[in-house]
Amino acid sequence: MSKVSQSASNANGSSTTNSSDIYNIVLLVVDIVVLIVKFWLAIVESIVGLFQTKPQDNVNGKFVLITGTGHGMGKQMALQYAALGATVICWDVNEQTNNQTVKDIKQKGGKAFGYVCNVTKREELMELAQKVRKEHGFIHVVVNNAGIMPCHPLLEHTENEIRLMYDINVVSHFWMIQSFLPDMVERNEGSIVALSSCAGLFGLINLVPYCGTKFAVRGYMAALTEELRQKNPQNNVKLTTIYPYMIDTGLCKNPRYRFPSLFQLISPDVAAASIIQAQREGLEEAAIPRSYLTLEKVGRLIPRKAMRLVNDFVDTGVDTDKY
Ligand SMILES: NC(=O)c1ccc[n+]([C@@H]2O[C@H](COP(=O)([O-])OP(=O)(O)OC[C@H]3O[C@@H](n4cnc5c(N)ncnc54)[C@H](O)[C@@H]3O)[C@@H](O)[C@H]2O)c1
Ligand SMILES: *[C@@H]1O[C@H](CO)[C@@H](O)[C@H](O)[C@H]1NC(C)=O
Ligand SMILES: *[C@@H]1O[C@H](CO)[C@@H](O)[C@H](O)[C@H]1NC(C)=O
Repeated sequence: MSKVSQSASNANGSSTTNSSDIYNIVLLVVDIVVLIVKFWLAIVESIVGLFQTKPQDNVNGKFVLITGTGHGMGKQMALQYAALGATVICWDVNEQTNNQTVKDIKQKGGKAFGYVCNVTKREELMELAQKVRKEHGFIHVVVNNAGIMPCHPLLEHTENEIRLMYDINVVSHFWMIQSFLPDMVERNEGSIVALSSCAGLFGLINLVPYCGTKFAVRGYMAALTEELRQKNPQNNVKLTTIYPYMIDTGLCKNPRYRFPSLFQLISPDVAAASIIQAQREGLEEAAIPRSYLTLEKVGRLIPRKAMRLVNDFVDTGVDTDKY
C-alpha cells in the first residue's frame, strides 16, 4: 500500500510507464491474491472451529481480579476461579458480603483476598490497583463485573441514578483497564472480561439508560480489540465481552415472560461457569445462553417491522421496579 502511494508522489509528470509502476501493480495483485486466499482460509477455519472444542487456558496458580464479588455472578465466578486453583482478588463496595465470599473460598481450601472498593471513585480505584499489583504481582485476568440496573421508564429516572449507572457500568471499566492493561501488553498475555448484557444487544423497555451502558461496553471493547491488534499484530492479550440474558441474582427484579419454559432465569453459578469458559477459550464475545448472539445477528437481517411482530408475540422483558 505505502509503496503504491510513494510511486504516485514520485510520478513527476512523465508520461512514460517506468518499471517501478509495473512493479507496484504486481505488488498490488499479489496483495489481492493473498487477501482472497487468507479470507477463505479464515472462513474455513471458523467453520471447522464450530465443530471443535477449544482448548481452555489454565488459570491454576494465576491471579484473577473480579469486581462486584459480594453477590451474584461475581461471587460465583470468584468461587469457581478459586476452585480452579486461581488466587482471586475480590473487590466490592459491600465489605460484609465481600468478606463472606473470601471466607467461603478459604473454607473450601481456595486462595482469596478481599478489598473494599467503590469502583466509581477513580482515585481510590487507581490507588488500590497499585497496591494489588505491588502485593500480588501480575494479574492475569481482570473481570469488570460490578453493575447496577435501575429499571423504569426513562422519564422516571433521576439524574443521580443515570450518572451512577454510567459510572459503575462503563466509566469504571476504563480506570480498571488503564490500571491493568499496561502490564498485560508488556508481557503480551492476560485477559480482560467485561459484563455487557443482552441489553447490550437489544433495546429493552424500562432499561433505556441501562441499555446505553451495556451498548457502551460492547462498543469500547470492540474498539479496544482493534487498537490492540493494530499496535501488535501478534497481540495475545484477550478481550472477552459477555452478554448474559436474565440471570437469577435479584438484579432483575420483575422479569416477565409469556413462555417461561423457553426463557427461564439462569442460575448465577451456571452463568459464572459460562463466563469462565468463554474467558479461558479466549472468545471475543459470548452470550449466555450462547445462541443469543446468533439470534441478534439473524434478527438484524430481518426487517424491523417483521422482527417486532415476533418480539410482541414472545412478549418477554422486564417490568418496572417501582411497584
Ligand atoms: N442478573 C442479570 O440478569 C444480568 C443480566 C445481564 C447482565 N448482567 C450484568 O452482570 C453483572 C453482575 O450482575 P449480578 O446480577 O451478578 O449483580 P448483583 O447485583 O447480584 O451483584 C453486583 C455486585 O456488585 C457490587 N457493586 C455494586 N455497585 C458497586 C460499586 N460502585 N463498586 C463496587 N462494587 C459494586 C454489589 O455490591 C454486588 O455485590 C452486572 O454488570 C450486570 O449488569 C446481569
Ligand atoms: C472484613 O474483613 C477484614 C479483614 O479480615 C476486617 O478487617 C473487617 O473488619 C471485615 N469487615 C466486616 C464488615 O466484616
Ligand atoms: C459509590 O460512590 C458514589 C459516588 O461516587 C455514591 O453515589 C454511591 O452511593 C457509592 N456507593 C455505595 C454503595 O456506597
